[in-house]
Order: sequence, then C-alpha cells, then structure tokens
Amino acid sequence: MKFGGTSVATLPRWQNILELVASRRAEGARVLVVVSALSGITDALKQLCAEGEKGKRNEAAKAIATRHDELLSHMQLAMPDTLAARLKDLAALADEGSSRLGELAWAAKVQAHGELLSSALGAAFLTHSGLATEWVDARDCLAAIALPNQNERTKLLSAMVDAKPDPALSARLAALGEVFITQGFIARESEGRTVLLGRGGSDTSASYFGALLKAQRVEIWTDVAGMFTANPRQVPGARLLQRLDYEEAQEIASTGAKVLHPRCLSPLREPRVPLLIKDTNRPELSGTHIGPELREEAPSIKAISTRKGITLVSMESVGMWQQVGFLADVFNQFKKHGLSVDLIGSAETNVTVSLDPTENLLDSDVLAALAGDLAKVCRVKVIAPCAAVTMVGRGMRSMLHRLHTVMAEFGQHRVHMISQSSNNLNFTFVVDENVVDDLLPQLHEQLVRTGAMRTDDASLFGPSWERLYGVASNGHDPAWWMDARPQLLKLAEERSPRYVYDIATVRERARSLREKLPVDRLLFAIKANSHPAILRALAEEGLGMECVSPGELQRVAETVPADTPRLFTPNFAPRSDYRDALNAGVLVTIDALHPMEQWVETFEGHDISVRVDLGRGLGHHDKVRTGGSTSKFGLPLDQLDAFVHLATARHARIVGLHAHLGSGVLDPSHWAEVYAQLASIAERIPTVEFLNIGGGLGVPSHPGERPLDLDAVGAALAEVKQVYPQYKLWMEPGRFLVAEAGVLLAKVTQLKGKGGWRYLGVDAGMHNLIRPALYDAWHEIVNLTRLHEPATAMYQVVGPICESGDVLGNDRRLPESREDDVILIATTGAYGQVMSSPYNLRGPAEEIVLD
Ligand code: LLP
Repeated sequence: MKFGGTSVATLPRWQNILELVASRRAEGARVLVVVSALSGITDALKQLCAEGEKGKRNEAAKAIATRHDELLSHMQLAMPDTLAARLKDLAALADEGSSRLGELAWAAKVQAHGELLSSALGAAFLTHSGLATEWVDARDCLAAIALPNQNERTKLLSAMVDAKPDPALSARLAALGEVFITQGFIARESEGRTVLLGRGGSDTSASYFGALLKAQRVEIWTDVAGMFTANPRQVPGARLLQRLDYEEAQEIASTGAKVLHPRCLSPLREPRVPLLIKDTNRPELSGTHIGPELREEAPSIKAISTRKGITLVSMESVGMWQQVGFLADVFNQFKKHGLSVDLIGSAETNVTVSLDPTENLLDSDVLAALAGDLAKVCRVKVIAPCAAVTMVGRGMRSMLHRLHTVMAEFGQHRVHMISQSSNNLNFTFVVDENVVDDLLPQLHEQLVRTGAMRTDDASLFGPSWERLYGVASNGHDPAWWMDARPQLLKLAEERSPRYVYDIATVRERARSLREKLPVDRLLFAIKANSHPAILRALAEEGLGMECVSPGELQRVAETVPADTPRLFTPNFAPRSDYRDALNAGVLVTIDALHPMEQWVETFEGHDISVRVDLGRGLGHHDKVRTGGSTSKFGLPLDQLDAFVHLATARHARIVGLHAHLGSGVLDPSHWAEVYAQLASIAERIPTVEFLNIGGGLGVPSHPGERPLDLDAVGAALAEVKQVYPQYKLWMEPGRFLVAEAGVLLAKVTQLKGKGGWRYLGVDAGMHNLIRPALYDAWHEIVNLTRLHEPATAMYQVVGPICESGDVLGNDRRLPESREDDVILIATTGAYGQVMSSPYNLRGPAEEIVLD
C-alpha cells in the first residue's frame, strides 16, 4: 500500500492509514506500506541542497526537524530514537555540504531523508497504535541498475531498478513480522550510494516492491478514485475507469493522465501483479483495477488525454528517405542532442517527429542546435507550441466508423500530424496548443455520443467525476420507469411488444420549457408522437400544435380544443395540402418559391410564414440535419427578396419567419444564434410579427451524455429578445417533450451463440423502432425482469424482422437473460411508434398510456 505526501502529512491522515492497513490485516494479508515524504518536505530538501551557505542549510534542516516534531506532538508521541538518529544524520549532511560526497551523491542522500523520516515516524505511530510495524530500509531491497548512455545525474537522481521476484527477500520479511513500512523514491546503487528514483518515484517504488515480493496486489492510495476517461478537471462528466489492462493503463498514463506515473506499470507486468488505485478519502469507491487479464469485450475508447508543450520537427528532403542509412543519420542527430522522439510521420519527401516535454529537456538552445545540425541534410521546420490529443483503447482500428464526428471536430482545426500506434492502442492528433482546452470536452462528449466510448458498459465505466465528488448533479432524475417497474412488467407479460408513455413526464417537460425559455408560443411538433393522450395533455399545458401533413392536421382537429394554436409546415407538399389548411383557418409555412410563383390565388389575402434556409444544418445524425444546399428544406436566402416581392404582389402578408436546422441538438447556444439571425433578416420585412426558431432540442441517450442545459438556452434567448423586443418568439420542439416519457417493452424470444457473438432476440424489431437501423441511434436497453442482477453477458439485441439491419442495440452488457424476460428499450417516446412500418406484417406495437 503506497501513500503519498499529503496522505502522510497529518495525524488524521495517519489514523486513516492505520485503519486501512488494519482492514487489510483483517483480511489476512501481510502489508508493506510505502510512503512518500510529508508534503512539502522534498521541496524543502531540494532547497536545502541549492543553498550555498552552511548557516542557511542548517536552518533549513532545523525547519524540517520542526515539521516532524510538530506532527509527533499531534500524535502525542515522544521522539523515537530511530527518527532522532535520522534527523541527526540530516543535520550532519547539511552542515558538511557536498564537498566530500560530491554534489549529486550528496543531494541524493539529503533528499532521501524525506522518506527516511516519514517512514520512521510512521513506524512509531502505527506500532504505538497497536499495529506492530517493522521499519524496512528500501535501499537494502531495491538495487539500482546501470543503464547504457546513463550519465552521473540520471544514475543518482533518476535511477531504475530491475525488480524480479526475490523469494529470499520475501522469506526475510516473513521472518520479521506482518506489517512493514518502507520508503518510496529511494534505492541503492552498486557502489553502495543512496540514489533517487526520479519523478513518480514513490509509486514506482511500490511497484518494484510489488514485483520483488510477487505481491497479491499493489495499492496506490491517492486523492482521486482512479483513472478517468479524461482529465476530470477539464471534463467533469469524465467517467471512472474501473478496469484496465497494463497496456491500456500504460498508454493512458504516458499520454497525459497524472494519477499514475507511467514508469510504475512495467515492473508489474511480468510477475502479473495487479495494481489498484484508490482514493484515501473515499476508500469505499471501487477505484481503478489494473491487471493482466484481457477480458473479452467490445472494443471501446477508454480515455482521451492531452499533452501540451509538444514540439514538432518537420524535415523535408527530396527523395532521400528511401536511401539506405538516411533515417539513421537523421535520428542520430536527435540522439546526439539527447532528445527522445515520440511520434513519427513519414512521407516520400518529409519526416515529421514530435518531442514530448516530459521526456525531454526542451529549451530553445537545444532545439536551435538540433535544427542547425539537421539543416546540413534536410530542410527543417520547428512547429511549436503544439498539443497532442490521444484516444486510447484496445482495438482502435475496428472503431474507425464510430469516429466520424470526432474527425469532423478535428476538421475545424489545424491538424499538424496524425499518428496511430502500432500496438493498435492509440490514435494521436497533434494540433495547435491553444485550441486544446476547448476541444477536449467536446471530443469527450462526441466519443460518448457516438458510442465510441462504450459508457453503457457499467462494469468498465464507473460513475462520473462530478457524481463522485458532488460538484453538480446533471439535474436528471432517475427515469420514471424504474419506479413503474412492477406495473411495466405486468403490462409486458400481458402482451408485447408495447410502447408505454408516462404523461406526467410529458407534462413535466412542457412545464420546464415554459418556465425556463422566454418563448411567447410553444408548439408541439406532433410528428414526434401523435398519440391523442399526449396531444391532449400538451394542449392542456398551453402548447399549440405544429403539423406537417393533412393527416396530422386531422389528428389535431379530432383531439384538441379548436382554439389550440396550429401551424402547418409541410415540405414539397401538393398544392391541395396548403389550400385545405388555409381553408381550415390554419397558418401555413412555405419553404420554396414554387408555391408563391405557380399557385397564383392560393395564398391571396392570407397571412403566411416563411421557412428560410440559414445555410447550415445541425443534429444527431446527417439524416436529421435540415440546412444547406444538400438539404431539401427551406427557402435559400438569395431567393427571399423574390419571395417577398411575389407575396406582396399576391397580397399575402408574411407575418412569420421560420428556421429549423435539425434535430437532437445539445448545444445550448444554438437557438439564440438562429433567433438573432432570423431577427436581422426580419428587419427587411416590415410585416413580420414572430420568429419561429424551430425545434431540435436534444435529449441525452448514452449514459454520461449531459442533458441540454435549459437555463443556458433561456439565458441566451433572453439576450436576443432584449435586442429585438418587437418580435414574438415561437418554438416547436418535438423530441424534448416526449422522448424520455416513452419506453418500448419487448420480451425475449430466443438466444443464440454464433462464433464469438451472442444474440438476444426480442419480439420488437425495426418495424417498431427504426431509429437504431436508420440513424445508428443508441437507446438504453435493460433487462427489466433482472434489473438488479449483474450485467455479465454481452449481447447483440435483435428483432424478428428479416433484415440484417434489424438490430436494436449492439454489444449490450446485460444480465444473463432467458426466454420471456422483459426487455425495456428506453427513450423511445419520440420518433418511435410514429415511424413504425407494417414490414413483414408483424403488426404494430400496442400503445399504453400511464396517466
Ligand atoms: N420543426 C420542424 C420544421 C421539424 O422538421 C422538426 C423535426 C421539428 C420541428 C421537431 O424537431 P425535434 O424537436 O423533435 O428535434 N426522426 C428523427 C427526427 C426527425 C426530425 C424531423 N423534424 C429522429 O428519430 O431522430
């Protein structure tokens, strides 16, 4: 068990250590505790070393002694002899200075005292508290090895140990007792001198000991619960990674995660000792378990990390790369200047490499010297400062199809280099350093959204950082269907498949929109779900109805009071549709020149609204983006003047301007942008009274995806409204009001294993829910019958339709399921039943309303 500087700095922290060690003892384990120096002490020792004056050095040594004295008195302990002896040694070293031992050896010996002191203090405290603890000198166990090309500095201050299982050491310790404490960070070299292990030294010590003793496991106790899918300080929604294999953990640690030093994994690989990262303050959290086992699971991106301060060196030379020895000569220059190369990209006439600041002492002198030497054989360009963005996960290459939106995100920036690791574990993009802070949260969200990061696999992806550390909840209540489970099980057992809608949720969504958005009129886009009970509830909540077909208009006419506001917004509809709607007194929206040009009398004397194309689209999938010339919707802005001209001639009054850019948008600034754009266009048309900024409000689908921040949407809209108070604001959401209110219940039909795949057949299929097949949409799927059983199986959830695309969910981790279990497919209240088809004549799912 390794504890870092802050974990050993105070009495409460030591009491915590005592409890943790005692709990491991209670499990029957023998425990070796590895400690760092008290926080701040290593720095104080370094300063002592830098001090030229003897008097100052002595003062520094005294201050360090006082720190330990104070902690001892908090512990109500007398100064143990062991600690007194160490303090005396330190005082002598400070007094003597470096002349006898030599600068580096002296510095190593002085700095080693941080850990020597904390471990002596810890041994006294633990023993005094009733846990007999043996103090072990790490230098008697860890022997530093000599490496080729090693200079005196690395040899003494950044040493490496070759830790092979050593049964003799295990036996020696076994003879001594059950609980031991030793130092992190220090070892001894062949001449007997004390050496330091360099950065991340204490974690590395713990690993060395783990390997030497072939420990049951190494536990690194720190101040976070483990490794996360991204730096949680930048991405609060980042998820705890509960299990990783050594290679993945190594990649994540080497590409940016600070929680574990990358060095400390390699000693554990061969002896297959697992490593567990735990939060000292929250020992109940599962932490990150890193081990040798490679479980069979669907490939997933595990983490995305960033490293700043990257320098690229681009080398151009016509036709030289193929020549024998040319690359060797070039790389020799890097070696000569002591630079280690990280990424490499090559082309016929160019090779570009990256230099990572954590592996290199990069200053302008070194770079200038390198560039000077390289210039003799090629043209050199140094590009800096850059940042490397790395996605890590086993089986990267089989996930390319899931990365298209991530690629699109990168497409908006200058990408200097792309590199794919040859072990198929990472993908790295090098971009300008200044874009990376904004980019990371967006990329993480895309990875979750597209399912490239399989956050639905709860055995791998633990809770988010914000959930664990309570920064802010995502404001999302647990789904209503959890509470309604007994009723839902009964409904499905009676008959399946069935859609079930919860009207209370529909009303709640309507109220939150009305409360949070400064809209003057809300219309429900009934295409999302035209069930009469839903229309009635929403009309009661004060919403109008937005329809796109005569059928929808008729449904509205049949179900809601006649004074409910209605809007007709068809696209490429026949002339008669418009005429009938106008005759029924419904306001219509036109989105082309053709109707105005060709259907001369139709709109005469009527108020109309115009849907314009703002030239861009947005949404959860290409097929739901409705802007730009590749989309069939909206009047292009360059035809607007002609439209206004014709409308005026026909005595049709343009009272509204409309735009809807797409569906499933989670960016809260989107609607205010559309609003402002429409307002500035409306200023050219004096008759405009309202601006309809469409729908498109998204709901999260993948676990970990954040819900739309309605407060932020409202605040942004309010700002625009202040500037354009003359226009009424209309919106016409569909999905947001109903998606989460609906579930599709199905029953398991058959199970099948085929090759490595397991298929879980259910009696609902693409004829009931086309979204997964059509948009790759991701819907949460649970086994409602076995909701609380461990999800140990990995299934492809498929329907009964004769199409290979009849898949409701790929690679879903679920409990081992049986025929007739009830399966729930969540967030299916929008675009579910309304998009169903009679294909295969299996008939529609019945719809049930809970009110
Ligand atoms: N207004 C107009 C003009 C629309 O075309 C739509 C949706 C909406 C409002 C409502 O959008 P919402 O708030 O529901 O995102 N079947 C796809 C969605 C297609 C949306 C079509 N138009 C899906 O299942 O994701």
